[in-house]
Amino acid sequence: MEFKGKKGLIFGVANHRSIAYYIAKELSNLGAEIGYSYQNERVLGSVEKSLKDLSPAFIEECDVLNQKSLNNFFKISKEKLNQIDFIVHSIAFAEREDLGGNFSDVTKSGFSTALETSSYSLIPITNLGAKIMNPEGGSIIAMSFEASQKVYPGYNVMGTAKAALENCVKQLAYEYGENNIRVNAVSAGPLPTLSARSIDGFNHMRKTHADRSPLKRNITHEEVAHASSFLLSDLSSGITGAIIPVDSGYGIMGL
Ligand SMILES: NC(=O)c1ccc[n+]([C@@H]2O[C@H](COP(=O)([O-])OP(=O)(O)OC[C@H]3O[C@@H](n4cnc5c(N)ncnc54)[C@H](O)[C@@H]3O)[C@@H](O)[C@H]2O)c1
Repeated sequence: MEFKGKKGLIFGVANHRSIAYYIAKELSNLGAEIGYSYQNERVLGSVEKSLKDLSPAFIEECDVLNQKSLNNFFKISKEKLNQIDFIVHSIAFAEREDLGGNFSDVTKSGFSTALETSSYSLIPITNLGAKIMNPEGGSIIAMSFEASQKVYPGYNVMGTAKAALENCVKQLAYEYGENNIRVNAVSAGPLPTLSARSIDGFNHMRKTHADRSPLKRNITHEEVAHASSFLLSDLSSGITGAIIPVDSGYGIMGL
């Protein structure tokens, strides 16, 4: 796989454990030129530290809950890169109290925060990204989790958000198909990251995946990056609207 001459945007690097960081590392090793967003000043230091060896084209603030911030980020992306070939959406957030306890205790505002950040944000990112996408086409990916389909106690409202995210992936894949812009998701098994640490019972989730999956182990960050590179490359030119599991096969098991 080669990404020489390809340009793209990556949303969601917080630190060197972020899934987005591993995707960034692999794509820049393959020759891609990449612009990065960071959520806010609080994470800027660790984002810059993580990306310092990857020769970022630029690093700019983008809070996906704020349309002005999104517009500004894409304006800068156009100025710096002119056009792009791919986008990685690796963003999710829910209030800590909504990632444990009873699902039905979620508040209206907790529900909105989780879905606006983790699902809705893919829509404006795709909309604005399509405007600066290579006219020959491009590829967009998002990160999902199997709790979109099945109950993972503790994952709660984030399961609802992932179900909405996967539906957005399919509707966007349809809408942008005629522009040859493909939209897919990777559904990753549990990986130890900053966000994952907020989920009640996360360690139990990791152990269960390792015990019960056909491969009898947890996945690695690198395996998610490999599948992501494939979906962003021309090797996957016939694939859109797909949710590709990278989960050691856990999702096929009934018992
Ligand atoms: N870690 C896992 O086990 C796992 C499994 C499957 C899917 N995922 C998904 O992978 C993606 C990346 O998560 P991660 O595990 O690498 O954790 P992470 O904490 O490293 O990344 C989450 C990112 O979301 C960003 N973010 C949150 N709110 C934002 C906002 N308002 N504006 C802009 N950015 C915002 C954070 O700054 C951070 O960079 C998420 O969609 C997550 O649900 C993670």
